[in-house]
Amino acid sequence: TDITQFQSDLIGWFTEEQRDLPWRKDQDPYKVWVSEIMLQQTRVDTVIPYFLNFIDKFPTVATLAAAPEEEVLKAWEGLGYYSRVRNLQSAVKEVHEQYNGQVPNTPNEISKLKGVGPYTAGAILSIAYGIPEPAVDGNVMRVLSRILSIWKDIAKPSSRKVFEEAIRKLISHENPSFFNQALMELGALICTPTSPKCLLCPVREHCHGFHEGVQNELPIKTKK
Ligand code: ADE
Repeated sequence: TDITQFQSDLIGWFTEEQRDLPWRKDQDPYKVWVSEIMLQQTRVDTVIPYFLNFIDKFPTVATLAAAPEEEVLKAWEGLGYYSRVRNLQSAVKEVHEQYNGQVPNTPNEISKLKGVGPYTAGAILSIAYGIPEPAVDGNVMRVLSRILSIWKDIAKPSSRKVFEEAIRKLISHENPSFFNQALMELGALICTPTSPKCLLCPVREHCHGFHEGVQNELPIKTKK
């Protein structure tokens, strides 16, 4: 089917072309969690050295749960948005104490953790546990708005569920991890905010925006 071909073209590209990033070395849910929190408001190139240092200092749920807050904040210094790391440590303590150090693997349980919104929940569930949940951030909304020609304002909070439902229909159940990461990678390398590189795109055959010639008009994003 066409969805099967889309999944295979997307995942095949990611398998060949993905960047070598330190949080892609293993599928440890704790490391995926730390990386996704860091990546929420900070660029990949900036995050890399912070991630390596943070995991060196606090390699496990147990070590981060036990660490003095001052040391944790010191390892975050320069990344900004310090509520991210306060919430992270608080949630990691919860995982240590209430879940025997195991990051929960269901949407319901993982979403109860402080600082874990729908994006982070979907990223951890799919990347670490292989569970087919959407992980929709602004980049994924941009990519999907072009592929499916969705003219919904991605700045509106209510739009995210439209994109999540679209992902639910498309996501590979064989490899949800690579499917979600491939959409993120496509947004970073090919389907960029301005001047998307459609001629290099592995899924341009499947892209309604490209076929309609409207890729440069999407996504719709009003200023708030
Ligand atoms: N941005 C958000 N999550 C990411 C990931 N896992 N890899 C690269 N960029 C990302």
